[in-house]
Amino acid sequence: MNTGVIDQNATATAMKTTENRGTLNQETLGNLSTAMHGEAFAYVKYLLYAEHAREGGNKELTDLFEKTANTERFEHYAEEAQVAGLVSNDADNLKVAIKGESYEIDIMYLECAQTAKVAKDIPVADRFEEIRHDEMGHRDAFKIALAKLKSRKENLDATTNHRSAAVVRRRWRLLRVFQMGRTRGPGDSRDRRAYRVGIVFSRRAALTLSGSI
Ligand SMILES: [Fe+2]
Ligand SMILES: [Fe+2]
Repeated sequence: MNTGVIDQNATATAMKTTENRGTLNQETLGNLSTAMHGEAFAYVKYLLYAEHAREGGNKELTDLFEKTANTERFEHYAEEAQVAGLVSNDADNLKVAIKGESYEIDIMYLECAQTAKVAKDIPVADRFEEIRHDEMGHRDAFKIALAKLKSRKENLDATTNHRSAAVVRRRWRLLRVFQMGRTRGPGDSRDRRAYRVGIVFSRRAALTLSGSI
């Protein structure tokens, strides 16, 4: 397995989560990425240790591992993620997630499985391959979620535009009614009302339509 390629790609993938989100030095970003990987790994590892301690009936050790795991996740990782600008909007988060899953599918697990196979570690090669297929499911689910997000945004934009157009049409109608009232002058009661209101509203409607207010 070419670990150099994997390491470079892993770093590149991790860096994608932080690029364009601040003015942090590239080395600092790389260090944040390394630290976050370490904290995330420690979190999961300690939970597995806690599970083992619980099965062995050692409550004190279970609590120690769980308490420490929570600090790694909810303090250390969370604080580093915040300064690294890890979390963005949903669409960007999905794009980063798709890149990460794609990297695992196309490079990382592929090379891991091939290397294990060559080394005759067949059960490990099989596990890598099985997990690689799971990652395909993750990638595809994220792609579907991203497409849904895009179409929801398009629908929202179309609705907003439709509403805006309806508002403009209504204002034009009002403007015409009020101007008619003004043109006819204070005649019958309906015209008098339109005349009085029209003086104020026709000016306001005209200003609105011209984009002045
Ligand atoms: Fe830590
Ligand atoms: Fe995954």
